[in-house]
Amino acid sequence: MTEQPREQWATRAGFLLAAIGSAIGLGNIWRFPAVAFENGGGAFLLPYLVALLTAGIPLLIMEYTIGRKYRMSPPAALRRMARPAEALGWWQVMVSFVIATYYAVILAWAVRYVGFSVGQQWGDDPEGFLFGTFLKVAPSPGTVSSYVPGVLWPLIAVWAVVLVILAFGIRRGIERANKIFIPLLVVFFTALVIRSLTLDGASAGLDALFSPDWSELGNGSVWVAAYGQIFFSLSIGFGIMVTYASYLRRRADLTGSAMVAGFANSSFEILAGIGVFATLGFMATSAGVPVGEVATSGLGLAFVAFPTVISQMPLGGLFGVVFFVSLVIAGLSSLISIVQVVVSAVQDRTGMRRLPAVFGVGGLVAIVSILLYPTDGGLYLLDASDHFINQYGIALAALVALVVIAWFLRALPGLQAHADETSAIRLGHWWRICLGVITPLVLGWMMVDSLRAEFDENYEGYSTGFLLVSGWGVAIFALLVGILLSLLPWKAGGEDIDLDMEAPAERAADRKEP
Ligand code: ALA
Repeated sequence: MTEQPREQWATRAGFLLAAIGSAIGLGNIWRFPAVAFENGGGAFLLPYLVALLTAGIPLLIMEYTIGRKYRMSPPAALRRMARPAEALGWWQVMVSFVIATYYAVILAWAVRYVGFSVGQQWGDDPEGFLFGTFLKVAPSPGTVSSYVPGVLWPLIAVWAVVLVILAFGIRRGIERANKIFIPLLVVFFTALVIRSLTLDGASAGLDALFSPDWSELGNGSVWVAAYGQIFFSLSIGFGIMVTYASYLRRRADLTGSAMVAGFANSSFEILAGIGVFATLGFMATSAGVPVGEVATSGLGLAFVAFPTVISQMPLGGLFGVVFFVSLVIAGLSSLISIVQVVVSAVQDRTGMRRLPAVFGVGGLVAIVSILLYPTDGGLYLLDASDHFINQYGIALAALVALVVIAWFLRALPGLQAHADETSAIRLGHWWRICLGVITPLVLGWMMVDSLRAEFDENYEGYSTGFLLVSGWGVAIFALLVGILLSLLPWKAGGEDIDLDMEAPAERAADRKEP
């Protein structure tokens, strides 16, 4: 293999900004407020904090440590831990592949809504506008009869931006982009939150979000929701943090970085909750209804409730532009990290250079995304694949990874020693207990609980045939292709890559580090 030194982040701050940029995404802005509201409001913050401390931050530390220790993206890193574990790495890569294909589509909608906000083009029917005029959604799932050009071209633009940033590499592409994105996002979002808090009825919204319904704490699904939110929101379980940490310098502080990234993400999430609910409070007060009636989740929140508010408030157009631009920035920095997982995995196992990998592999993700989603059936596919890949991709792969790493490979003590070598905060027994016992138990329970719900009732009432292809099918596809990729005889320039041979080269590079 031609030895190319691995790229590195220029600074620790650059890595942290990229990790925070990956974590803060669509999940924080629209998912958290709705999940918190549906699951006990203020009382949800307790399971949420428990999930952050017992699963989120410990897993972030583990993923950073694996990435930094083996300096490879998940397939190659896990292969170095134990050859068969490579399949687990490719499974995570395939999960990222699937997520990237539809995540980009939501960004494309947000791009269009920046423009729609200016003239409030949804008129007095934001819902009809979204599903009818804009997305031209087919009457039932499973049929695709036409392309929707209004989604197609912004989607192509989103992919062009992502691939160009990735083409510039870790330091000049991802790190630089995040240095612009994150401060911009903080300024825009702070302005939005301040504006929303000055709206009439803001306090009614905050009351709805923060009034604790303590009885919900005894409900298992509330805990499941808290863990699910932490996984998606922190970008853990789909290979991103292993990949980003593989570009870290040897001496970077891992535990401290994980804590900074974890708390920054959660602070942003709570800020988003405050902003969104203050705005919903205004909407509910104007309509004279309880906040619960206007609080919807996901798409409805960003693309129906917000347009409604934008039309009602003074200078709404400006508020709309800032809101949707924030959504685009937050989503772009996450999408970049998701695609980088796929690009970097192939690079590490083939020795391919960056540009062919970005345009070949990243280009393939873009083509799949562009072929499947900007159609009249795209929304159903997006909804089903999002649900199934989250449950049986991210969460299930994380459970399997923990069982393999903690119990089969018994690798936690070695990883702990590696993290402790360069981190100011030493990891204690609690870290191993969280990862080896608490989190696998909660994730196992999550799986049983959600499988039971799946078999009780078809997700969203979709037909079994449709779910077999677009839901279960997508999750199983990610797993099977992952296993298949781990069995391929990867070659670079006709030679087998001997991963074990790279360690001395890395050690030599370490010695040269400033
Ligand atoms: N962590 C990213 C988000 O919250 C994927 O959207």
